[in-house]
Amino acid sequence: MIPHSKPTLDQRDYDAVLKVLRSGHISQGEYVKRFEAILSEFVGVKGGVATNSGTSALHLALLALEAGKGDEIILPSYVCTALLNAINYVGATPILVDIEPDSFNLDAKRVKESLTEKTKAIIVPHLFGLPADMEELLSFEIPLIEDCAQALGAKYKGKQAGSFGTLSIFSFYATKVIASGEGGMVLSDSPHLLERVRDLRDYDNRDDYKIRFNYKMTDLQAALGISQMEKLPSFLERRGSIANRYSLELANTPALLPTGYPGKEHIFYRYVIRVEGELERLLEQIKREGVCCERPVYRPLHYYLGHSDFPQTEIIWNSALSIPIYPSLTFGEVTEVIKGVKGLIEER
Ligand SMILES: Cc1ncc(COP(=O)(O)O)c(C=O)c1O
Repeated sequence: MIPHSKPTLDQRDYDAVLKVLRSGHISQGEYVKRFEAILSEFVGVKGGVATNSGTSALHLALLALEAGKGDEIILPSYVCTALLNAINYVGATPILVDIEPDSFNLDAKRVKESLTEKTKAIIVPHLFGLPADMEELLSFEIPLIEDCAQALGAKYKGKQAGSFGTLSIFSFYATKVIASGEGGMVLSDSPHLLERVRDLRDYDNRDDYKIRFNYKMTDLQAALGISQMEKLPSFLERRGSIANRYSLELANTPALLPTGYPGKEHIFYRYVIRVEGELERLLEQIKREGVCCERPVYRPLHYYLGHSDFPQTEIIWNSALSIPIYPSLTFGEVTEVIKGVKGLIEER
């Protein structure tokens, strides 16, 4: 079975973790600081604060903006529940909006219609590795939290994703662009916001009391993150070349394929095609051929909240199929995926 996603690990990763393990300092320390410096330099912002997950990074980013009860936070419906959870952790009100049908990202027109005097922030995921329309979203002059959990290395108009928002967050979950097992980071150009995030990440040895968290990353995770970061250029190149092969080989099928967007560099965290037919059945069928595909978003958020009128999200949720793409996928496996997907589409 070809898995839908998988981390890409090698001897350098094993050695990096073992070195920290042998040092005896396995909690947050110098490696975490180094990882923060490496990532913020790569993205091109002033600084970063590492956390134990992308979700905790989002939580702290919202707290840094002092989002809470009575505030509204805009986010797309077509995204994982981590975003909804973080908004609910701080007691703010989630305002769901629909997406653009072709890019799968926030529809800026819908965002504009949803702005009120209570809007505190907009969470902007760059879904599947394709940057959202930053220029339009920035024009609203509302703090943006860029969610780069799926977009490390993606670029918008030549600049790294994560360098546009008031804050940005990343995830290093096992199957993300780079992996630390679990892990996240908040980046920002604002020393003041970074200091707030740093203060809330850890509870120990403080003169005052307020609710703080234990959201720290360990040096074991940071060592893995640093080692993975060194391989990011080759990871991105490999993702790009697999995506090119899929685009070439599936071009003459009825599937709708990802298209290019001027000014946006897609990193193909996911290669998402749109197909006709009953998706659950198609997923089962292709699994029987030895290829594991997935719905790239498990369930839209408006379903959980019982909201309606998200036509584009529903169309996409009912037709989007994510096929395996990760750096360790071999040439032969890519061939198998192409064969499986073609068979699936042509059988219909
Ligand atoms: C777009 C997006 N945001 C946030 C998260 C949350 O990250 P984590 O799983 O590290 O908490 C994820 C993870 O799947 C994600 O895909």
